Amino acid sequence: MLRSGVVVALGGLAVAAPAPGHHGGGWGSFPSAWGPSSASSSSESGTTTAASDAIPTSFTLDSQIPAITTLPPTGTEPGAAPSLVSSATTGITTHGPYSGTPTTIGAEHASTTLSATIPTMANTLATYYNSNGKLTEPEPTPYMPAGGVGVNGTLPVYMVQSDFDFESVALGLHQEYIELDLFHYAAEIFSEQDYLDAGLTKEDRDLIEFMSIQEAGHASLLTNMLGEAAPKQCTYDYPFTTVREFMDFNVKLTRWGESGTWGFLSHLNSKEVATLIVQAEAIEARQQAAVRQMLGLHPFPFWFAPGVPQSWHWTLLAQYISSCPENNTRLVWQNFPNLYIDNQPNPNRWSPNDTAPGEGQIGNRAGNPSSSDIPEDESCVNVNVTGYSCGPAISRDRNEPLSFAGREIFLHWDDPGLAVGPNNSYVTSTTAGEPAFVAWVGQLNVTFTPLTITGNNTGSSYQPPNEVFETDPAVNETVFLALTDSDLYVTPFNLTMLNPHVRALGIFLAG
Ligand SMILES: *[C@@H]1O[C@H](CO)[C@@H](O)[C@H](O)[C@H]1NC(C)=O
Ligand SMILES: *[C@@H]1O[C@H](CO)[C@@H](O)[C@H](O)[C@H]1NC(C)=O
Ligand SMILES: *[C@@H]1O[C@H](CO)[C@@H](O)[C@H](O)[C@H]1NC(C)=O
Ligand SMILES: *[C@@H]1O[C@H](CO)[C@@H](O)[C@H](O)[C@H]1NC(C)=O
Ligand SMILES: *[C@@H]1O[C@H](CO)[C@@H](O)[C@H](O)[C@H]1NC(C)=O
Ligand SMILES: *[C@@H]1O[C@H](CO)[C@@H](O)[C@H](O)[C@H]1NC(C)=O
Ligand SMILES: *[C@@H]1O[C@H](CO)[C@@H](O)[C@H](O)[C@H]1NC(C)=O
Ligand SMILES: *[C@@H]1O[C@H](CO)[C@@H](O)[C@H](O)[C@H]1NC(C)=O
Ligand SMILES: *[C@@H]1O[C@H](CO)[C@@H](O)[C@H](O)[C@H]1NC(C)=O
Repeated sequence: MLRSGVVVALGGLAVAAPAPGHHGGGWGSFPSAWGPSSASSSSESGTTTAASDAIPTSFTLDSQIPAITTLPPTGTEPGAAPSLVSSATTGITTHGPYSGTPTTIGAEHASTTLSATIPTMANTLATYYNSNGKLTEPEPTPYMPAGGVGVNGTLPVYMVQSDFDFESVALGLHQEYIELDLFHYAAEIFSEQDYLDAGLTKEDRDLIEFMSIQEAGHASLLTNMLGEAAPKQCTYDYPFTTVREFMDFNVKLTRWGESGTWGFLSHLNSKEVATLIVQAEAIEARQQAAVRQMLGLHPFPFWFAPGVPQSWHWTLLAQYISSCPENNTRLVWQNFPNLYIDNQPNPNRWSPNDTAPGEGQIGNRAGNPSSSDIPEDESCVNVNVTGYSCGPAISRDRNEPLSFAGREIFLHWDDPGLAVGPNNSYVTSTTAGEPAFVAWVGQLNVTFTPLTITGNNTGSSYQPPNEVFETDPAVNETVFLALTDSDLYVTPFNLTMLNPHVRALGIFLAG
């Protein structure tokens, strides 16, 4: 009985028993010293007498403090937690490219499509402006201002409420599943020595494994909000062969995962679903910062994280899914042709300027890592000179930045019509004309720079210097690059309007 009772009781305790030392009736199993006054007096006597300047080297039995044995309810017991949709720590799936013939081709689509593009409309609803901070309407209840969504007593429903919601959350679920697999896989395939060689410890490796378990929780949450048609976990094909390349790939993959989610969250019909997803995404953002630290990069060299449309997310993610189970629910989103940054700065070099052509993006998938296979005297991994080291650290300042405003970037891109994604069953497409601009999507900004065409599907441009707010360069951390046929003005909440103009899409490690 106590097992399930404790969950409810601990929450209620603060309300029911505000006076220290008073625990009400029925709580005989709590030790009588529970109140703060007796707890503080016993800890005082413990620490002051033992104080010394010596660093501890032996760790014997500590003070015996008031505690009870308590376990979470399980199975059919009241208050038991729901089960996970996927095992968190076992069952490494097979990996590698898909070589079969897909049973179906193309994105999910409805029987009818209403229009090729969406026209812009004036917004007649956003009229509220408060110039003096005084309430303009009666309060619904004391201490409650008028307005808001979902605060009028309507019961919350934690389920997707439209095709838009379903397809967005299904995409998010694919991201959770690849991270679940990726973190676990890399924790397993690289040895403890491999991690040590990359400047990481067993505890760092444990952190990666812990992130994998978090993903099992996220995947379960999203599955529950989708229902029985939720996509299932797939088989993946990764582009790295070393711990450093794994971290580099992580830096990119967690960026499109996080930014893809910020991109759709506020557009969801279901605010209940958005509320729970934002609570998962807060953890994903921490994972992103941690993997940057493991690659010896500044953890968050920007003030705002960008959001991108679902089709950008799906374009980058789908390339690493090799096959999905039979009849897996298909997604509606577009796969754009890839844009490659030939001189993507290599984070393994103490001199990123020296990145050789092609080395900054190995292979032919847009989110691939830079090669970590460079001569030791050019690598920053084991350098421990401030400004030049890129070994794991809480933070790093690079004397020679990865990239900088005015740096020329050399690009090439694919034609549409390529088979990509799970079972090679999706096809890349574009409705854009000849590319003329590079759209740099970083922080809150979309900045267009002119594209210079230098050959068949090749060109170059220069990194723009503009700032979000004074002193904060818009292009830093990991940014999204789109080749476009137009410099259409778009902002964070209507970035999707750019999609018909996107000729190719890539991702750039700017800092
Ligand atoms: C993808 O491949 C898997 C494994 O071979 C198969 O079970 C599934 O039906 C395939 N799906 C498609 C769409 O081809
Ligand atoms: C209560 O809020 C919901 C969602 O915000 C809204 O759809 C509904 O019309 C509101 N009901 C009333 C009675 O105002
Ligand atoms: C896939 O769908 C077909 C047609 O509905 C069905 O016959 C088959 O059993 C399904 N396979 C699985 C694994 O669910
Ligand atoms: C990297 O290249 C830029 C542009 O040519 C140059 O200004 C900068 O000095 C170079 N960095 C170093 C450390 O040489
Ligand atoms: C740099 O590396 C050397 C040799 O491993 C070591 O002796 C020194 O303490 C290191 N310096 C710093 C600041 O970590
Ligand atoms: C990105 O941020 C880092 C950390 O503040 C800074 O060192 C670097 O110069 C920035 N890059 C650009 C292009 O401003
Ligand atoms: C141009 O480049 C694309 C992509 O690499 C390739 O598919 C196409 O064949 C090339 N066309 C010519 C005329 O070389
Ligand atoms: C960058 O974004 C900020 C915030 O939305 C905006 O005020 C600013 O005008 C944008 N700058 C450019 C160059 O687009
Ligand atoms: C996007 O929103 C901005 C307002 O923030 C507006 O000026 C712009 O015209 C919109 N772009 C499109 C293509 O609708």
